Amino acid sequence: MNEKEIVLSGIRATGNLHLGNYYGALRNFVKMQDDYDCLYFIADLHALTTNPDPAALHENVKNILAEYLAAGVDPDKANIFVQSDVPEISEMYLLLNMHVGIGELLRTTSFKDKARKQLGISSNDDKDIESQVIGSESNKRVNAGLLTYPTLMAVDILIQKAHKVPVGKDQEQHLELTRRFARRFNSFYNVDIFPEPENFNFGHNAVKVPGLDGSGKMGKSEGNCIYLVDEEKVLRKKVMRAVTDEGPKEPGQPISEPVQNLLTLMELTTAPEIVQSYRDAYADCSIRYGDMKKQLAEDILKVTTPIRERYKEIRADEAYIGKVVRQGAERARERASKTLEEVRKAMGIIRFY
Ligand code: ADP
Ligand code: TRP
Repeated sequence: MNEKEIVLSGIRATGNLHLGNYYGALRNFVKMQDDYDCLYFIADLHALTTNPDPAALHENVKNILAEYLAAGVDPDKANIFVQSDVPEISEMYLLLNMHVGIGELLRTTSFKDKARKQLGISSNDDKDIESQVIGSESNKRVNAGLLTYPTLMAVDILIQKAHKVPVGKDQEQHLELTRRFARRFNSFYNVDIFPEPENFNFGHNAVKVPGLDGSGKMGKSEGNCIYLVDEEKVLRKKVMRAVTDEGPKEPGQPISEPVQNLLTLMELTTAPEIVQSYRDAYADCSIRYGDMKKQLAEDILKVTTPIRERYKEIRADEAYIGKVVRQGAERARERASKTLEEVRKAMGIIRFY
């Protein structure tokens, strides 16, 4: 009777969740749980690629779990688990790495960005990052786990044979690699083990939530985040401080990037006719950024306040969140161990005694 398509997604345990995580991923986790067979996990092994403090990592796993639940992921509908509770993932990661090229990993955008940051190379310096990584001093090493991050992510997806993966725009290259690895494995061993997964956002393009600092995306490492658990005062302050421009000088002039970013956030949180009224006000030079920001803060708070309130309750109940992931791990392991057996068999790793 299990005809529903499999959905899988995860978020790294690197800090509290922000609006980018919410609109890029978590909101869809909730919206998909009635119609699909959903598995949502906390990627603690992926967090290790940037060598976090162990105590902070452990807390972050519980924080994100509580945030999933507070945002409305229902453990009776979706399967929630912690990545490291499924050791089959680590084994398959080793196996899949045998079919992944070092070159294709070195060329992955997320790897190049993170490696650049670690080596202290500025982001507009596009010189040969690959040879810099290879030639870097041991005190500045870029670890192999960071390089093989896409293999681990592909395994998360493929081991559950997922069809749909709700993630933000920044993850699309990783999904492209996952599809490539799936095809490569199937065809190398002449098997049909893995479906090719795709991003999913209810027929819309993948989301990229901007930061409020004028350019780029909202991200933990960018330091420009509005967190789901930000207290009201803090949140209002962040929005009121958002970068804008000096105001339109001529009617109909193109909208500047910082103002467009505010409008993009508004499109996610605010009624369409109100967003349009601010677009019109920009076009006829009557826009007042103070009013616009107040409106935006109000509308964001409508989304985040109930989540923040539930979060506090859920986070305090460790016995409950522990129960949720214990159950979740069982089901995730069941599916994962079946796939792992198929993979081992295809590769000739077969116990004969
Ligand atoms: P961060 O980039 O803050 O470290 P993660 O990499 O852990 O966050 O992202 C977890 C999920 O949230 C992914 O699905 C990712 O695509 C999504 N996400 C993160 N930031 C954004 C953003 N600014 N806009 C849209 N989606 C985002
Ligand atoms: N790489 C994702 C991120 O940074 C997190 C992630 C790990 C993931 N494994 C995944 C997302 C599998 C979807 C499916 O956000």
